[in-house]
Amino acid sequence: MEKSDPIIVVGAGIFGLSTALHLARRGYSVTVFDRQPYDESKYSYLHGADAASADINKIIRSAYGGQTEYQSLSTEAIAAWHEWNEELASGKTIPPGMTSKDRVFVANGNISMSEDSELPPWEQACIDGMEKAGHYDTQLATTNPRHCEVAASRGLSSYMDPFQQRSRGTKPVGVLDTTGGMAIADKACRFALHKAREAGVKFVFGPQAGCLQSLRFNGSKVTGVQTRDGKLHQAAMTILACGGWTPVLLPELDGLCEATAGSVILMKIPTNSPLWDRLGPQQFPTFTFNMRAGRKGGLYGFPRNEDGYFKVGYRGTKYTNPVRHSDGKERSTPATRWSAAERDGAQLVGERLTDFPREAYQVIHTFLDKYLPELREENIPIATTRMCWYTDTFDNHFVVDRVPGKQGLMVATGGSGHAFKYLPNIGNWVVDVMENISIDREAIQAWRWRALGNKKPINNLMEGSQGERALGNIALSKESTIKQPAKAVL
Ligand SMILES: *[C@@H]1O[C@H](CO)[C@@H](O)[C@H](O)[C@H]1NC(C)=O
Ligand SMILES: *[C@@H]1O[C@H](CO)[C@@H](O)[C@H](O)[C@H]1NC(C)=O
Ligand SMILES: *[C@@H]1O[C@H](CO)[C@@H](O)[C@H](O)[C@H]1NC(C)=O
Repeated sequence: MEKSDPIIVVGAGIFGLSTALHLARRGYSVTVFDRQPYDESKYSYLHGADAASADINKIIRSAYGGQTEYQSLSTEAIAAWHEWNEELASGKTIPPGMTSKDRVFVANGNISMSEDSELPPWEQACIDGMEKAGHYDTQLATTNPRHCEVAASRGLSSYMDPFQQRSRGTKPVGVLDTTGGMAIADKACRFALHKAREAGVKFVFGPQAGCLQSLRFNGSKVTGVQTRDGKLHQAAMTILACGGWTPVLLPELDGLCEATAGSVILMKIPTNSPLWDRLGPQQFPTFTFNMRAGRKGGLYGFPRNEDGYFKVGYRGTKYTNPVRHSDGKERSTPATRWSAAERDGAQLVGERLTDFPREAYQVIHTFLDKYLPELREENIPIATTRMCWYTDTFDNHFVVDRVPGKQGLMVATGGSGHAFKYLPNIGNWVVDVMENISIDREAIQAWRWRALGNKKPINNLMEGSQGERALGNIALSKESTIKQPAKAVL
């Protein structure tokens, strides 16, 4: 492959943006296609962008228990996040509509909490893993008196007890990762898009010109794509990075990747509420809660953002939406409040979905009533709900590799709900895979095209429409009935 040979990336979420940016930096000529009109919607879910990357915030952390390959990938990413913030602050790189006051990363810390009475072994492994890598006192356990003193001396006490449990007579149990915090996801995508454009990447957006209709072949070699407007685009390499839609577009991923939904509620805190400061990023960390407690746990959340949105998500059950495709097989297919609009193309089937899993709502509310009762006391309304579609693999490792049997085709997908934080750097790794550079690295090996074989999966995939996580088999609540008070503020 010559650097002048055209490369096509399909998808402008984090995998696609990052890949395009790093390809351009290495001198390749790149065009990115996405059906979402991101220049208009600006990666806002509230304005129709329903890719997982299009969001108000995402978790950033570096602790990964014993998984040091992701830990060092995070350390690399966090350094780059700081650089991006500096680029913004200095005025060197400012995307349209943003200012030098905007940030793409907020270092408000990421605390992992649970209802265990002692610190669980996994958390201890996070502390040990980071210390082994020389990052002392970056992981602070709420159960360790010395760590609490360190936190106090750095002004971090409120982050160590986000639900003010000590004042309510219970003990917070968790670890604050002080290297972490959150990405301001939509702004970070706009920033990466702008940088990629500056580096020479061409973007084609929109439901016709930007939407993949089919791959083009010469024998078994992929020679480019056809978009829905009928145009043919030639490429020496085509990289599919279509998030939750990738397994539907590339059936070869059956059994390796599947779209599953997280259930998200957005509450809206008024500026004059006492909760504005209390839940603001100057006091309140990004949190995960009872991540290892099965269906009754799997909660995460963020400080309120500058518009007052306070987001809490649930992944205790990873819902699926199996739909029968033209080859007769069922594949989980993202359905969001925006998806009916694209039924015409027949390629991406899906119903409009504004209802919300009752179980998710109940787990979130049980948690909020116990740990943040102030929300109910202050009558904070639910502004909207969202099903956020991730691409799970059976082992939670990404998939970054050539597609077997199809020359000229790669995938960069399978984020499994933990890829966003790598927006600044994952593309560098994708290009290394494309160029066969140091592919013996542990992470790259973990991301290879693979089959489950007789291993035990972390995520059970493809349970189909009979599966108990299928949206058709679970109780859904009408969105209007879970807003409290009933009026929408959107
Ligand atoms: C940070 O966030 C992740 C989820 O992305 C969570 O699993 C982890 O336990 C959190 N906390 C720490 C201390 O890393
Ligand atoms: C298809 O591939 C063959 C063999 O590599 C080549 O000779 C031929 O020119 C290609 N056809 C087109 C239309 O590119
Ligand atoms: C990388 O390796 C693959 C598979 O072994 C090969 O097909 C490809 O041509 C190589 N690419 C480069 C740039 O070396």
